[in-house]
Amino acid sequence: MHPLLGYVDRWSAKPGESIRLMVSSAGDAPFEARFARIICGDPNPRGPGYREIAMPHPLAGTHPGLDQKTHLGSWARLPLLDLSGCARGLVLCATIWPTTPARGRQAIASWRGAGGAMLSLEIDADGVVARVEDKGGATRVATGKVLVERAWYDVFLAIDPVAGTLSVGQRPREAHPGFADSGSASTALRGAPAPGVGRATIAALAAADPAGKPSHHYNGKVERPCIWTGLGAEDAMAAQRGATPRGTAPGLVACWDFSIGIPTLDVADIGPHGFSGTAENLPTRAMTGSNWSGAEHRWAHAPSEWGAIHFHDDDIGDVGWAPALEFRIPEDWPSGIYAVHLKSANGFDNVPFVVRPADAAPKAKVAILLPTVTYHVYGNFVRPGWGRNNRARALEWGAITHTPDENPELGLSPYNFHSDGSGVSMASMARPMIDKRVNHFEMMDPAEYGSGAYWVNVDSYVVDWLTRKGIPHDVVTDHDLHAEGAALLEPYSLVICCQHPEYHTTEMLDGLEGHLARGGRLMYLGGNGFYWKTVFNKQAPWALEIRRAENGIRTWATEVGESYHAFDGSYGGLWRKIGRPAQKLVGNGFSAQGIYLGFPYTVADAVADPRVAFLREGLEAELRPGAQIGERGFMGGGAAGHELDRWDPRLGSPRHALIVASAVVDHPQFKPVNEDRLGFLWPAPLEDLIRSDMVFFETPAGGAVFSVGSMNFVGALPIDGYDNLLTRMMTNVVRRFIDPAPFAP
Ligand SMILES: [Fe+2]
Repeated sequence: MHPLLGYVDRWSAKPGESIRLMVSSAGDAPFEARFARIICGDPNPRGPGYREIAMPHPLAGTHPGLDQKTHLGSWARLPLLDLSGCARGLVLCATIWPTTPARGRQAIASWRGAGGAMLSLEIDADGVVARVEDKGGATRVATGKVLVERAWYDVFLAIDPVAGTLSVGQRPREAHPGFADSGSASTALRGAPAPGVGRATIAALAAADPAGKPSHHYNGKVERPCIWTGLGAEDAMAAQRGATPRGTAPGLVACWDFSIGIPTLDVADIGPHGFSGTAENLPTRAMTGSNWSGAEHRWAHAPSEWGAIHFHDDDIGDVGWAPALEFRIPEDWPSGIYAVHLKSANGFDNVPFVVRPADAAPKAKVAILLPTVTYHVYGNFVRPGWGRNNRARALEWGAITHTPDENPELGLSPYNFHSDGSGVSMASMARPMIDKRVNHFEMMDPAEYGSGAYWVNVDSYVVDWLTRKGIPHDVVTDHDLHAEGAALLEPYSLVICCQHPEYHTTEMLDGLEGHLARGGRLMYLGGNGFYWKTVFNKQAPWALEIRRAENGIRTWATEVGESYHAFDGSYGGLWRKIGRPAQKLVGNGFSAQGIYLGFPYTVADAVADPRVAFLREGLEAELRPGAQIGERGFMGGGAAGHELDRWDPRLGSPRHALIVASAVVDHPQFKPVNEDRLGFLWPAPLEDLIRSDMVFFETPAGGAVFSVGSMNFVGALPIDGYDNLLTRMMTNVVRRFIDPAPFAP
């Protein structure tokens, strides 16, 4: 892990509010903190240049460092489990769907009592394994039957104190011809285990040290682990195949029913003692169980068919570091993008955050809405080889050099696959997200002068641009919009969405629609915006969930029957498939994807329309139909690139909208989005699909929307010191959009 890393507990704060900063410093080395307001986060020396304003703060200076760790792998933490009533014997059983059965030792459930007593039900390369340890020694017995991956099995561990045996068994729910994967085995117990009170876990092996982290994490689904006493293994296995037992069933010690509390981190024991616990590190819930019939797809209609939790050995949640400092935002700090810079003898890092205006402060007319929910979802996108690839340039530019692929301890993003091949659907911000930094670039830019930057680094171009043009603005975040809705935007005439506002919650879309409904103006300066739905966890507000249902440009797809979010029971996937297409909100929507390469827009005849006379102000001679704009850019060498959005009235684009410019891209590495394709042919000529449409339209409430529909667009703003034809035109849009004179469609 990089020797100096930090994260904050919130994306934004107002003057007077505080932000907690968690830091890990290798070897407990002291670290220095300093604060800065970011004017431009892009480290490219050939671009506008990294610029910040130092912001003195009482907590700037040297602080003691603390070496802190992360722990990967999800599991269920159970309370102290009293097994002293199991003197007549004990059967621990579960239904499992292992995803990496050949990978080695993985614990399905474990218990550790006093004096070294331990029992665990595991899988290993030789099938299901039972282990018991105590003072008398260790006993291990395995079925010797290799498990088939992604198949359901009922499994058990049984201790018979009368016979003095430890038994283990596995039985597939469906036959697998050619695989002898059913079996059981028994062996003599060494010693005489006397179960009392102990620490218990599901999906990992409890650590011998009570303060330690569990090990031997399990990959796959676990359904309804149960403990019985006074019951034979066969009877317990029969019960496992049947309906969920009643809590009062004779002999039932514990039964964890994962179909209860699906949106939560709670793991419910319906047995007589209530040994309920907590899911740690965000395993995935609302997973189809062994009894899923296919008749229902919405888990909330039949939760008992979604009684499985999928655990992964690389899941991550709240890493839980001790705070290094809690800094209060001084009253005189203006709204903007900020960073706390960290430096130790071993390395440097920075953590960006946003200062919002105080409640009582006068507001600017413009709010820059930083797409922090999309940053959050993309946090720690591991791309193998990128660290090595980018290092020389990062060092040359004095930029951040650490990358997710070289820091696997920080976990994955929903753009990655878990180690077992399943898609990552959870995103935690309670950990360092090291690719969401200022003074950071994402990729080697194909343009020799380009930045290859992304995220806050290019969103800060919008700050830089407005600052240079003398247009006052505040900065707010997606997380604020989610929490406060349209009320957040109420003071503002104009809301500017930045480079890549791809992920939205229902509350966020409601907020933006509310802004437009009251006559607010909106500029969307990105591409592939308003695309996926995401949902916050109510209990763990640092966690987001994504279900990649149906189709769309995506790195993985949800499994059949798992298209509804665990966190709130709602349907997941593209907003377009949920009835709220981007085209309806902003006039254009995702149409084509390609490499990080930019192309110019060609100004359309509509630019001469009197409705957009404001666009041409002072630019009459140049901004004419056929003119090219955005022909250079610091993101891929041009304004229209990477991900392109088109105007399409069939998907909800307003018919009265004016397309003032378009970029039709003819390049073999650009393709239409798959959600537009039904057969082997595309539904329209490629020039109608691989295009970016710059769209203007008035809203019924006297407001207006201006959307550029390109991911690389903001990279063209800084060209020639923000004084090029495209940027002058965009400045005209801003000036008109903050003019209170209503628009008339
Ligand atoms: Fe994206």
